Amino acid sequence: MEKPHHAARQSWWSRQSGARKLFYIAVPIVLIIALAIGLGVGLTRGGPDDGEEPDTTPSPTPTSPPRNGTIWQPAVNETWQIVLLKPLELAEDTTSIEPDVSVYDIDLFTNEVGVIETLHRLGKRVICYFSAGSYEDYRPDSGQFQQSDRGRELDGWPGEYWLNVNSDNVRNIMVERMRLASQKGCDAVDPDNVDGYVRQPFECATVKAMETETCGQSNENGLGLTQQDAINYVNFLSEEATRLNMSIGLKNAAEIIPQVINVTHFSVNEQCVEYSECDTFAAFVQDGKPVFHIEYPSSAPSIQANVVSNICSGDGDAEGAERFSTVLKNMNLDGWVEYCNGETFTTETEA
Ligand SMILES: *[C@@H]1O[C@H](CO)[C@@H](O)[C@H](O)[C@H]1NC(C)=O
Ligand SMILES: *[C@@H]1O[C@H](CO)[C@@H](O)[C@H](O)[C@H]1NC(C)=O
Ligand SMILES: *[C@@H]1O[C@H](CO)[C@@H](O)[C@H](O)[C@H]1NC(C)=O
Ligand SMILES: *[C@@H]1O[C@H](CO)[C@@H](O)[C@H](O)[C@H]1NC(C)=O
Repeated sequence: MEKPHHAARQSWWSRQSGARKLFYIAVPIVLIIALAIGLGVGLTRGGPDDGEEPDTTPSPTPTSPPRNGTIWQPAVNETWQIVLLKPLELAEDTTSIEPDVSVYDIDLFTNEVGVIETLHRLGKRVICYFSAGSYEDYRPDSGQFQQSDRGRELDGWPGEYWLNVNSDNVRNIMVERMRLASQKGCDAVDPDNVDGYVRQPFECATVKAMETETCGQSNENGLGLTQQDAINYVNFLSEEATRLNMSIGLKNAAEIIPQVINVTHFSVNEQCVEYSECDTFAAFVQDGKPVFHIEYPSSAPSIQANVVSNICSGDGDAEGAERFSTVLKNMNLDGWVEYCNGETFTTETEA
């Protein structure tokens, strides 16, 4: 029980067990090689070279018009699903997807353009996830980071390191990631791990405690990152995302909400009920912006009805969460999801 926030503040990847991580590494590596080859052809030639269609620039479908200057602002209480473990499995001619929610948050790298086009054709908005504040050794662009960009390894998770968000090199790589998101047609980006300033001691785990003198910045990240660094970084990412006509979310980072709420379009929150801090994130709802809220009940995927109703009650530990877009998920963010009305679905993913 000593550092509950630490786990909560790390990316989904950081929370996987060692054996699972090995498995997760092996599968994506194969996929990424395939994707890299596919992208190399697809992006430079304007579409998959299948020999059937003329080689033109991607033709927009009626439901996914060319990007214009209008940036998508999701609505409060919008329905959503998040799947990061594996890319979605969607037949090109499919007429439906489960669940039939309005927003999908999916991995930027592992999902091909066709997945995003199909989601658009089905009338869905697409948020593309990437880690903006941690180095992951298995991404196609991992080789572009310099040794000096990296801080400490994320607590006990080999291969993932905090990044120096002040580094020009890191920022350039993130701009490239957002260009990729824009090219793929993502409506928004979900940059994870912008809160490398994570506080350490358990006594300092609440936002209120952070304001006291004894709970200053920790250097767990190994780079001396501060909240001000995170504020600057989110401003930078927001400017670049909006330049590319995409909206941008703030992932967790409760402490800097007042300073960056004006430059972010939604919140993606993990476990605010578990840590009784939903009222902090409710600032987004008060500002007319949704909170895409995830809880990871330990009993998932067979969650007792009273656990669901507590999370969804807006009372007690869930105070402040009344109009949040809540999903109950497995920690690995696979295709399974449960909603507050008790309905469950499993979105199909690649094997
Ligand atoms: C931009 O596209 C959106 C649909 O994605 C549409 O609702 C909006 O009216 C368009 N804005 C302009 C200025 O064309
Ligand atoms: C963003 O929208 C503006 C205004 O419609 C357009 O000129 C520009 O090309 C778009 N940029 C991108 C990267 O889509
Ligand atoms: C929020 O969305 C859910 C699911 O679509 C719906 O049942 C509920 O009535 C909505 N609540 C509000 C306050 O709009
Ligand atoms: C955010 O926007 C509101 C209203 O537009 C404004 O009053 C406020 O000063 C802004 N806050 C910051 C931190 O820029």
